[in-house]
Amino acid sequence: MRPQAIALAALAAGAVAAISALHAGEPAPDPLGEKTGGETTVWATGKNAFSFPAANLSDPERTRFVIGNSFFKRNWVEAPASTTARDGLGPNFLARSCGACHLFDGRGEPPPFKRGFSDEDPLALLIRLSVPGTDAHGGPKHDPVYGDQLNTAAIQGVQAEGRVRLRWSAVNGRFADGTRYTLRKPEYVIDRLAYGPLAPGAMLSPRIAPQVIGVGLLEAIPERDILANADAQAALPGAIKGQPNRVWDVFAQREMLGRFGWKANVATLAHQTAGAFHGDIGITSAQFPHETCTPTQKDCLAAPNGSKNGQPEIDAKTLNEVVFYQATLAPPARRNASDAQVLRGQRLFAQAQCAVCHRPSYTTAEGPFPHLTSKALQGQTIWPYTDLLLHDMGDALADDRPDFLANGRQWKTPPLWGIGLFKDVNGHTRLLHDGRANGVLEAILWHGGEAEASKQQVLQFSDADRRALVKFVESL
Ligand code: HEC
Ligand code: HEC
Repeated sequence: MRPQAIALAALAAGAVAAISALHAGEPAPDPLGEKTGGETTVWATGKNAFSFPAANLSDPERTRFVIGNSFFKRNWVEAPASTTARDGLGPNFLARSCGACHLFDGRGEPPPFKRGFSDEDPLALLIRLSVPGTDAHGGPKHDPVYGDQLNTAAIQGVQAEGRVRLRWSAVNGRFADGTRYTLRKPEYVIDRLAYGPLAPGAMLSPRIAPQVIGVGLLEAIPERDILANADAQAALPGAIKGQPNRVWDVFAQREMLGRFGWKANVATLAHQTAGAFHGDIGITSAQFPHETCTPTQKDCLAAPNGSKNGQPEIDAKTLNEVVFYQATLAPPARRNASDAQVLRGQRLFAQAQCAVCHRPSYTTAEGPFPHLTSKALQGQTIWPYTDLLLHDMGDALADDRPDFLANGRQWKTPPLWGIGLFKDVNGHTRLLHDGRANGVLEAILWHGGEAEASKQQVLQFSDADRRALVKFVESL
């Protein structure tokens, strides 16, 4: 039997039936999923492992990638400035470039674990804000004074909205074999609010910047395959019942299946990109034409902005190149896929039902906006290890803040590809939506809710099995 077949055989009978039905008739040309992104895959390790273009791009496409890369990485500046191509920063903002949070196209790092409040600026940790109720499109309702995220920086003459500080408390536990472990739970305090208190009932959702490799391939997974995941899970016995999110997309001007963000709260890369330019850097576009100042923020409203004679601060062509850049960022190939310990870990991954949510493989089709991406992404067999569905992950991870159809306990299964490489890329091993977990095993120990039974299995594992499971995940 091929290793993938062995892994599937280890699942409960019902799961095997459901999963093999999903893959029926597809011969697996790459049974270990070594070519993580099919023909787009790059063989890369080290600091730049996440920063290469898809291997199968044409030369003109590589040029677009390079242009998009520069607008993703270089700092935007205050207007008026001599660099008119990149001015218009703020008035409110969080960072001066996309790359400041998605460092080396990888993950952000929350402040380190230590006693007391940390004074470090948790730059890549964004605080989403909302008040009870929904907006006109069923999305979160903005705080009337602070909007939908807390901006911790502002240009000269404008006050930063506030400051975020966090401190950690210990959560102790032990495995069945007696080995003890300690997890650290964050607590967030917002202070120095410049425009008065948050609205009554305001809800916060801290989120760390995720890696951006392979996002164009995730966008090209056929919607019906994602919905089939939900149906297959609904048909299984047990607690795992993933749900799709449905969100408003400003480019398509309609409701679509959510795929991006920690709650699948965004449907397309185009929307994510224009939304991030606007919300995180203060750069207006045709889709988001107004600065993020709210009516009470008089200094923000009065600030000079970079709009080029009434035109948006980023033009459509440049925005498209940044979308293209991310869409074509390649996932790096797996390492050590046929190592005996890794293969053992792969069987345990299936046995503990990790693979039900972290679904291994798909074949891509055409994405929603073909002109913003590349044909090179289509028809690829990819190995992202996600179902892109929302799951109740239990009390300990809950943010108690709804986001479109996601409730306060649900999170999207994040893709696991590249997870063994981001330590080299970003120099840290912090995982989960707010970076609270240090490494793969801690991330698993935070799983609860629908994933409680999976975690319970891991708690029963021997030390050797725990190591094998982690080694497998780190080979992705
Ligand atoms: C202040 C830090 C910060 C900046 C600056 C920033 N991002 Fe992000 N990015 C995040 C966070 C946090 C998330 C997760 C958001 C959520 O869950 O709602 C995210 C999510 C994303 C995703 C979705 C990835 C996935 O798989 O879910 C993409 C793509 C992305 N950002 C692109 C960009 C682009 C393009 C820019 C610049 C225009 C940018 N980001 C600027 C913090 C940042
Ligand atoms: C019920 C669905 C479900 C199951 C079962 C499940 N996971 Fe997850 N997993 C998730 C979700 C959702 C998250 C994100 C939670 C968060 O960020 O708060 C996650 C996060 C992770 C992460 C961190 C990823 C990142 O980008 O930060 C790792 C590693 C992981 N899971 C591994 C596993 C392993 C190993 C198993 C089996 C022991 C498993 N998961 C079982 C849904 C699941």
